[in-house]
Amino acid sequence: MAAEEDAGVSRAPACLCVLCGLPAAGKSTLVRTVISAAPQQGWRATVVPYDDLIPEHAFQTRAVEEGVKLQEMHTEWKLHRQAVLQCIEQFLKEPQVLADVPSSSNSCQINTAAWEQCIRALLQPEALDHSHADQAPLLFLLDDNFYYPSMRYEVYQLARKYSLGFCQVYLHCDLESCISRNQNRSEPIPTEVILEMVKRLEAPNPQNSWETKSILLNTTDNLSKCDIQRVMELISSALSNPLRPVEDNTEQKEADRLKCATSVVHQADQACRRLISEAMKTARGNQVPSEHMRSLATQLNDSKATFLHNLRKQLLQETSLTQEENIDVERVVKRAVDVFDHEKKEIMLRIINDHK
Ligand SMILES: *[C@@H]1O[C@H](CO)[C@@H](O)[C@H](O)[C@H]1NC(C)=O
Ligand SMILES: *[C@@H]1O[C@H](CO)[C@@H](O)[C@H](O)[C@H]1NC(C)=O
Ligand SMILES: *[C@@H]1O[C@H](CO)[C@@H](O)[C@H](O)[C@H]1NC(C)=O
Ligand SMILES: *[C@@H]1O[C@H](CO)[C@@H](O)[C@H](O)[C@H]1NC(C)=O
Repeated sequence: MAAEEDAGVSRAPACLCVLCGLPAAGKSTLVRTVISAAPQQGWRATVVPYDDLIPEHAFQTRAVEEGVKLQEMHTEWKLHRQAVLQCIEQFLKEPQVLADVPSSSNSCQINTAAWEQCIRALLQPEALDHSHADQAPLLFLLDDNFYYPSMRYEVYQLARKYSLGFCQVYLHCDLESCISRNQNRSEPIPTEVILEMVKRLEAPNPQNSWETKSILLNTTDNLSKCDIQRVMELISSALSNPLRPVEDNTEQKEADRLKCATSVVHQADQACRRLISEAMKTARGNQVPSEHMRSLATQLNDSKATFLHNLRKQLLQETSLTQEENIDVERVVKRAVDVFDHEKKEIMLRIINDHK
């Protein structure tokens, strides 16, 4: 038995733990608590604070205020996130090289002082028994909002490449509480930014094969002992079950599929909006009374939301989405939007007939 176990899984040298949630959802509090509890578990723990590592982090805020193109912002932001992961990767490969911030091919600047502080906690763990300290597993708590699955997936890929543990904690906080806590801070984030993020946030879904090690914490109130225990158990389980690197191109395929689905849904959304706006114009032209107009708007809107939700789900399951070398996105969008167009016509007919 023992031999079999030895031949199977062994403990991961490190765990990447993604903390996902709105601003002021309680991530920093959780970080402090986990870091202070880590030595008891024999872990060397540190936080990877995106806000401190990426001086331009505030550009997200500015961008929303100044109406900078979201697309541009996302591209820039993505490069910075990758630079943070490169720092972690560099450290995993050569932990002895203190604060060698990789001179990345892109122009992203990672704050060296913040990164040094981040890894000092790992190199000089204060509360650990020093004879074994250098063998103690490393715990990286990645502190950012991580509102899109694709952002978290980048971390998963890194964990998989080095056979690390990977887990996610979703801090779910009532929106009102987040907003009021945020406003209590010395440098609050504009409320619009939080509202914008709520719209985009897609929480970890443990049903997805790569997100199985995810838990939800309700952080509307204070964290309980039980919450902390769940987090410690999650990390412990992630360390005992390191990811296996893949040899084939499954990883690339999955990434492509995610990217493609996002693009299709985005374009379908735009097309549906145009259809709805045309439908409203037509209805107005037909002198549909205002209470029917409101009902029409609501029905079309609800129908669109359901339609896009199902479309995304379906796209992520569909294997053909990545089997073809060049996916004809336009055609996929058109085919999908035709379905919505049909639904739209039915809703229109019902409303116009009711009104006659
Ligand atoms: C905001 O700060 C005030 C004063 O420090 C405190 O009484 C209140 O509970 C805080 N509110 C929240 C939501 O944290
Ligand atoms: C979270 O906790 C608050 C306060 O205890 C409660 O009102 C709320 O319903 C909870 N939310 C979820 C999603 O469980
Ligand atoms: C949460 O913790 C703060 C500070 O420790 C305390 O003042 C407050 O009463 C607690 N709130 C709840 C709902 O337990
Ligand atoms: C349409 O639905 C979204 C949520 O899906 C909602 O935020 C918005 O207010 C709705 N608009 C109308 C006109 O009903």
